[in-house]
Amino acid sequence: MKFDNCISKGKLKSVYLKDGKAIKVFDKKYNKSDVLYEALNTSRVEDAKADVPKLLSVDVIDGQWCITSEYVEGSTLAELMKAHPKKMDTYLQQMVDLQLSIHSKRNPLMIRLKDKLIRQINDLDCIDSTKKYEILTRLNGMHEHSKLCHGDFSPENIIVTKSGKLVAVDWVHATQGNASADVARTYLLLALNDIAVADRYLDIFCAKSGTAKNYVQNWLPIVAAAQLDKKRPEEKELLTKWIDVVNFE
Ligand SMILES: Nc1ncnc2c1ncn2[C@@H]1O[C@H](COP(=O)(O)OP(=O)(O)OP(=O)(O)O)[C@@H](O)[C@H]1O
Ligand SMILES: [Mg+2]
Repeated sequence: MKFDNCISKGKLKSVYLKDGKAIKVFDKKYNKSDVLYEALNTSRVEDAKADVPKLLSVDVIDGQWCITSEYVEGSTLAELMKAHPKKMDTYLQQMVDLQLSIHSKRNPLMIRLKDKLIRQINDLDCIDSTKKYEILTRLNGMHEHSKLCHGDFSPENIIVTKSGKLVAVDWVHATQGNASADVARTYLLLALNDIAVADRYLDIFCAKSGTAKNYVQNWLPIVAAAQLDKKRPEEKELLTKWIDVVNFE
């Protein structure tokens, strides 16, 4: 399919700007249910009254599934962090404020984060059954909450508008669950890039929310195991290390 303004090019999905709207175009190989799930899940986030670009339509154009939503003009937070490293602290503060406002929303119809994690961990074939049992037991002991969790809350998925407002996109992984698990996942995503930035993010989150650090850290082996499901060789070493940490003091 030919669109001129490519905003982001991926292997199986690309985003284009057309007529003032953002169109996410999926590869012909992409599973139809996965496209429809992404659309429904994003719409459920809208129903939770989170401040997100509105979903406008789901179509098939030249045999490819497309999700059209409102376009948010700006740069991603990842681009800004790279361009202005001195402002990192301010960016992390803003990022945490946005994440806290997301966690204040609810939608009881969304998939439960705990169920999703159980499924991902059960699907793993790269850890032995004893380890799997250990992680699932740990997960079972975690408190169940029903806060809206973005699920992939990283600087690439945050757009900063000209007026300085932060808007999160890419809601396919959103669930309802324990906010600390969502924060542990963001920590992990940041740490795969820069551990110092991840540590600072966690300090800011814990200070702003009044959460004990080890409460978040205790989720790390679980979210690290779930991330192994993505099968990215470059992440394996660090993730395996986190899975093996038993207790954070
Ligand atoms: N509504 C939007 N307005 C402006 N830019 C957008 C919008 N949606 C997506 N983008 C841009 O396109 C990029 C890719 O979109 P998105 O994050 O939804 O897909 P993805 O990362 O390819 O998907 P996934 O993480 O699910 O594999 C975003 O990082 C953002 O820069
Ligand atoms: Mg994304």
